[in-house]
Amino acid sequence: MDLFEKLQQNRGPLGMHAKDAHGYFTFPKLEGDIGNKMIFRGKTRLIWSLNNYLGLANHPEVRRVDAEAAAQYGMAMPMGARMMSGNSNLHEKLEAELSSFMNKEATILLNFGYQGMVSAIDALVDRHDVIVYDAEAHACIMDGMRLHIGKRFVFPHNDIENLQKQLERATALTEASGGCILVITEGVFGMSGDQGKLKEIIALKSKYNFRLLVDDAHGFGTMGKTGAGTGEEQGVQEGIDIYFGTFAKAIASIGAFISSTQSVVEYLYYNMRSQIYAKSLPMPLVAGALKRLELLRTQPELKDNLWKIVHALQTNLKAAGFDIGNTQSPVTPVYLNGTIPEATNLILDLRENYDIFCSMVVYPVVPKGVIMLRLIPTAVHTLEDVDYTIESFSKILINLKAGKYIGDRIVTA
Ligand SMILES: Cc1ncc(COP(=O)(O)O)c(C=O)c1O
Repeated sequence: MDLFEKLQQNRGPLGMHAKDAHGYFTFPKLEGDIGNKMIFRGKTRLIWSLNNYLGLANHPEVRRVDAEAAAQYGMAMPMGARMMSGNSNLHEKLEAELSSFMNKEATILLNFGYQGMVSAIDALVDRHDVIVYDAEAHACIMDGMRLHIGKRFVFPHNDIENLQKQLERATALTEASGGCILVITEGVFGMSGDQGKLKEIIALKSKYNFRLLVDDAHGFGTMGKTGAGTGEEQGVQEGIDIYFGTFAKAIASIGAFISSTQSVVEYLYYNMRSQIYAKSLPMPLVAGALKRLELLRTQPELKDNLWKIVHALQTNLKAAGFDIGNTQSPVTPVYLNGTIPEATNLILDLRENYDIFCSMVVYPVVPKGVIMLRLIPTAVHTLEDVDYTIESFSKILINLKAGKYIGDRIVTA
């Protein structure tokens, strides 16, 4: 069969829905300045879908520095990979400031979070080593493991008892092979919003010999007293051997980083293929990240504002009878019962008749018959936004329970 013909016939698990979904449920275009309200299909809507946790995307200082740095350096500078020709004082300054903020010895910048995680896993372990990972790990962790030719053992999400069993197995194997054990989990799980049990995992170090890699994409900037993440939140920052954070969420940019010991970071400098064989982060992104980090450190009110909205949204949703699961972070899932066609109608109703834009998650990410609406509160939302959303959700829930969303699409997208 011709390759193109095969691709035409088999569109993939997401692509198979493109015909009905493209431009509305998938690839929607949000226009206007990034904030609590944006324009979707020509109309202003209340947006709960952006990981702009601290509201920095449109902060005037951030916009100014981004523009000035672009004017000063252009987008090309520096050219080449950092190892060959693309290093700069500013890159090293950002790494030093991140290390001090994260309370780690050293930091390596990554061009992208997803790609960086894949490459970090590839660099850290070899075929004798065993990876033990949480079953709900993000795609970048799963894809990093695809490059791992050694053994990997999964433990059910946050199941510490089972993790111990996997560590027993991994220990037996590595004792025979001379390999090492890397445990991988997340600080904040981006779908359910619950935290990885870092404290419990780190406590197991007294019994088993392993190193811990934590993907804290959603925790960096949002969790902990200073915003240094979920390790700080749980009082176990020191026990995280390799900390991964992204610039793409709380600090609203592009790029990512890993903070660890000096020796591990130096090793990664010379062994991470995503950094060795790719152009380094453009200067405006580095200058912009420095400004964002400065704001995160010096303006605690940004995080306070975020948490004011988080608490109002989560408390009031619960009070209104909604099931928000076990979230322990700003990520706010709302679990409803219904079929996928009902979920589609419900989202259409929310968007078109209530002007609320949030993301919907259905099977296979959640069990069959469950509809998850995923809300991401930010520092630029208001308490009025929260009240309006809960009022609207309550009406939607009545409709759902009355079967109003069964059948053909209630609104044409
Ligand atoms: C847990 C987690 N890790 C990694 C990433 C990837 O980060 P980036 O957007 O910087 O590539 C994401 C983003 O969706 C994430 O949620």
